[in-house]
Amino acid sequence: MEMRSRALGTGMAVPEQVITNEDLARIVDTSDEWIVTRTGMKERRRARPDQAASDLAIPATLMALEEAQISAKDLDAIIVATVTSDTLFPSTSCVIQDRIGARHIPAFDVSAGCTGAIYALSIADQMIRVGTCRYILVVGVEVLTKITNWTDRSTCVLFGDGAGAVVLGPSEEADHGIIAFHLASDGGAGHTLHMPAGGSRLPATHETVDKLLHTLFMRGNEIYRAAVSTMTESCRVLIDRAGLDADDIDLFIFHQANLRIIEAVAKRLKAPSEKVFINIHKYGNTSSASTLLALHEARMEGRLKPGNHLLQVAFGAGLTWGGILWKW
Ligand code: UT7
Repeated sequence: MEMRSRALGTGMAVPEQVITNEDLARIVDTSDEWIVTRTGMKERRRARPDQAASDLAIPATLMALEEAQISAKDLDAIIVATVTSDTLFPSTSCVIQDRIGARHIPAFDVSAGCTGAIYALSIADQMIRVGTCRYILVVGVEVLTKITNWTDRSTCVLFGDGAGAVVLGPSEEADHGIIAFHLASDGGAGHTLHMPAGGSRLPATHETVDKLLHTLFMRGNEIYRAAVSTMTESCRVLIDRAGLDADDIDLFIFHQANLRIIEAVAKRLKAPSEKVFINIHKYGNTSSASTLLALHEARMEGRLKPGNHLLQVAFGAGLTWGGILWKW
């Protein structure tokens, strides 16, 4: 049987500061009732002014390395999924490579919006399966509160900061690990979720700063509809590719963007609620970090047992979407 890659350790880190719905209701015209009923979110975390993506990624990384019982020196590659890297360049993965004392290994960031961790895991899986790498660190990290428009109630209530990490390595039991992945994109809908300025299209000027163009813009309704259809599609493709039925999936980890989106996808797949992991009430939407934070917490809560089938599925800016089917 073909060799697979599997998770040897997972980790997470979130900033200390908790922002509750009541806190938000003091800065924009919103309410706990609106946020809970429309999104399922109760609180989220916010990084300190001096805290960048790598400052969250490193503690999550050290936790995952410790569980994997692997030293930073044993890593063969580092792949970081983020849209809020420390700097546009160099990449956050290079910052991590230096700070954890890894060797001069390949290190690069992946930009695929909230689907970033899925993209990063699929790249790492392939690097391990072809044999060019043995141990790869995959991190999903986001400090979205740094690009939030705090005067826009339709977006500022939704996002939070955090990091999730996974150390992948070759599986000793041939059929355990990543069974299949699905990746997709539709750049035609890119304008529905974007940060207009700060890139080469619209470099920073006083005007871009004054117009708050260095913050996130979203057409919530359009994204909502796309999220439900694309995550359902990814689940169906993966279940089909593996020759399984939806009933064979033991745990679903969906991108934690909106509880109603998660429930709508679960309903289409006829997945019972006890098989669907939720932590959106604690962290809000943490983009690239979302499904890795959820993976770590699901494991810590004993929701994943050896041999379980796990579907980890996300969608996000790009638009991008995709998923990973694991046999744990
Ligand atoms: O990671 C991927 C990125 N994002 C997403 O996945 C988000 C996808 N979209 C969504 O989750 C939802 O569309 C939202 C949560 C963003 C919005 O929920 P909705 O049920 O689609 O609300 P809506 O945009 O249709 O707005 C309904 C009303 C509007 O008022 P009117 O025009 O009906 O008077 C909004 O102005 O709710 C208003 N509204 C708010 N009211 C109180 C919008 N934001 C807020 C708010 N508090 N924070």
